[in-house]
Amino acid sequence: MGQLDGKVALVTGAAQGIGNAIAQGLAAEGARIVVADLNGAEAAAEAFHDGVGITADVADEAAVRSLVDEVAERCGPIDVLVNNAGLYASLAMRPFTEIPLDEWRQVMDVNVASMFLMCRAVVPVMRANGGGRIVNISSGTPFRGVPFLLHYVTSKGAIVALTRALAKEVGKDGVLVNCVAPGFTMSAGVEAHPEVIEKLRDVSVAARTLQRDQVPEDVVGAVVYFASAGSAFVTGQTIVIDGGQTFH
Ligand code: NAI
Repeated sequence: MGQLDGKVALVTGAAQGIGNAIAQGLAAEGARIVVADLNGAEAAAEAFHDGVGITADVADEAAVRSLVDEVAERCGPIDVLVNNAGLYASLAMRPFTEIPLDEWRQVMDVNVASMFLMCRAVVPVMRANGGGRIVNISSGTPFRGVPFLLHYVTSKGAIVALTRALAKEVGKDGVLVNCVAPGFTMSAGVEAHPEVIEKLRDVSVAARTLQRDQVPEDVVGAVVYFASAGSAFVTGQTIVIDGGQTFH
């Protein structure tokens, strides 16, 4: 018996990286997985029993609507939403004076507006179903004030605020909203950018209490906890998972 038997879990950006590890962890507890991703959703879904893959841009309002409608049609009500899709390793690190406004807006769209859109579409489904769980993926960077990625760090700080305010708004409906903030993680997205690894891997490991690489699987336990019965009285919270680099 898994902790999530019979539940439907939608994970955005689950074709690879941290999102894929989260989907595997939720599936191991019995959840039926919906992979929503810009690329590779269908192929990734094949790895899951009864998995469903849907190609969607979660920063696009119409695409989010049709994604959530399609899930309702194919799987029934969504019990667990993990808002994981985001832009990170592809962003150039540079002084904030050199960040173009259109790049700033793109980061806010993909990392923050996507969560607003997904929650706005999914919460009514959860309300009608008597409740649900939402887990948002932030980052350790706002807790450390990491420089040279001002748009990214700001977007990840906004996710902590969104989590708290939304939790207050939907608690009465049995919808619990929590947040997980990973440290620098050797995801597929990071692996594709050797310059990022060169800059951040060793300094991140050295700054941790537990001095090793962080891998996507490190994030899974907290997300499963927030999706399961054991966290039934926990909402609006953020857990930093970074091997003790930051104490929050
Ligand atoms: P990744 O780049 O390996 O995977 C991200 C996935 O999201 C990809 O499959 C991509 O196609 C998808 N995606 C991107 N934009 C999308 C959109 N608009 N609509 C639908 N899907 C979209 O990323 P990684 O490293 O696994 O990161 C996942 C999340 O974790 C992100 O929110 C990131 O900010 C966060 N994070 C990552 C850290 C790291 O060091 N890797 C550290 C802290 C947080």
